[in-house]
Amino acid sequence: GTLQSTSIIIFGATGDLAKRKLFPAFFNLFIEGRMPEKFNIVALGRADKENNDFKSYVKENLLLFSRNQTEIETEWDKFQSHIIYFRHQIDEESSYKDLDVKLKSLDSEYGVRANRLFYLSIGPNFVSTISEHLKKAQLASNPSQDRIIIEKPFGHDKKSAIELNNLLSKTFEEEQIYRIDHYLGKETVQNILAFRFGNSIFEPLWNCKYVESVQITVAEEVGVESRGAFYEGTGALKDMIQNHLLQILCMVAMEQPSSLDSGEIRDRKVDVLKSIRRIPLDQVNHYAVRGQYGKGTLNGTDLKAYRDEEGVAPDSNTETFAAIKFYLDNERWDGVPFYVRTGKRMQEKHSYITIQFKPLAQSTFSGGKHDLSQNKLIINIQPLMDIRLQFMTKKPGLTVELRPVEMIFDYFSCKEDTPEAYETLLLDALEGDLTLFMRSDQVEEAWDVVKTIQESWENNPDPSFPNYAAGSSGPQECNLLLQREDHSWEHAHIDLKV
Ligand code: BG6
Repeated sequence: GTLQSTSIIIFGATGDLAKRKLFPAFFNLFIEGRMPEKFNIVALGRADKENNDFKSYVKENLLLFSRNQTEIETEWDKFQSHIIYFRHQIDEESSYKDLDVKLKSLDSEYGVRANRLFYLSIGPNFVSTISEHLKKAQLASNPSQDRIIIEKPFGHDKKSAIELNNLLSKTFEEEQIYRIDHYLGKETVQNILAFRFGNSIFEPLWNCKYVESVQITVAEEVGVESRGAFYEGTGALKDMIQNHLLQILCMVAMEQPSSLDSGEIRDRKVDVLKSIRRIPLDQVNHYAVRGQYGKGTLNGTDLKAYRDEEGVAPDSNTETFAAIKFYLDNERWDGVPFYVRTGKRMQEKHSYITIQFKPLAQSTFSGGKHDLSQNKLIINIQPLMDIRLQFMTKKPGLTVELRPVEMIFDYFSCKEDTPEAYETLLLDALEGDLTLFMRSDQVEEAWDVVKTIQESWENNPDPSFPNYAAGSSGPQECNLLLQREDHSWEHAHIDLKV
């Protein structure tokens, strides 16, 4: 690697994210030769653990979660020598002094003051404590070398997000702060910019003259699993829409950046968030639909209602589904609805974007026998990963009959391996590239976009809850949102009856 020596310090290294995502990502970067030549992962945890026990635990989890299984046998010995378990108490000043000593001793091993990458893989309540202690102990005092990665939630509304940003800014410069939205690390999401701005043939159509509507769906099959207690205070709007879905919307809607400069790209995204029309408080019901799953079945398995999940109140008002219609007040998207929806316990896991083009003004082909559909472009984010353009062709035969077909670019047909979101994001953080991370104003503006919906939903319980069955496609009302415009939700791909 050409990167400078780096000490990676993980707070919460014994937690779920570290074992599922972070260690596998570092391991994958390591075997690809992407890690700095000299580095150590200082894994912080509360318990008194033997270094070797911790390493065995990391290895076990690599076997469960790494996409590179065969390399675990061959590369583990080398990789494990970079892991250091270090006992640490988040709220004890002396722990940070010990850490200081440790980091300095690593520096003398490297022979330079190494870069420091602090990863806060801990609950939001600890962010301020850690940030303050890091400042006091001067552990991250070199703005050009020291970085901090934090996970959402970035506050729980606009006000608290501003407070959090102010607090972080007492210890860090904005350029040192890497706020993760892991959707931005997904290969298929990053490809939106390449698709739009690396081609000459799509961008001319990418506006209100040709596009009728845009739909963004992030459907999950899982319920809240063991996170009921956390999810109760969150819900789909805060957990998914405010961050992941709005960020995808920004990628689809943004103006062309003049370069790949991170400031430039983040500016263009903020422009989109600013242009989103704010929904008046008294019209929230017209633009937004919420849902909560009741009991249901999927593939023959009975599924619990949300209110019966562990940690959830029996009369919970938390939404597990949300659909919203947004309009952008700018020249490019004048009058084009952007429909976004997300839900847990849906029929299937499927995230995709549909660009629905306008119908022909006049068609040569009209009348019953033609299956005339509008052109659409579908970007499948996961688990399908492809881009599909749907267009009309003549059905082979002696009569003239039209039907839709698809042209498909499928990622799985490429030889290249697709990295996981966390690999991309961790490498960017190691290299100091902020493009895919959330700047403070992006976070604050996104909260502003959902502000009135949040207020309305928090203050008015929905008497229809639960209003969709687990394993279904969400509440009925969600369709009304589109029917009013004579639109309907798109399915991601057509089954060709050839
Ligand atoms: C997280 C949410 O940000 O994203 C979870 O907190 C959600 O509730 C998850 O399940 C979905 O991520 P992915 O990558 O599995 O689509």
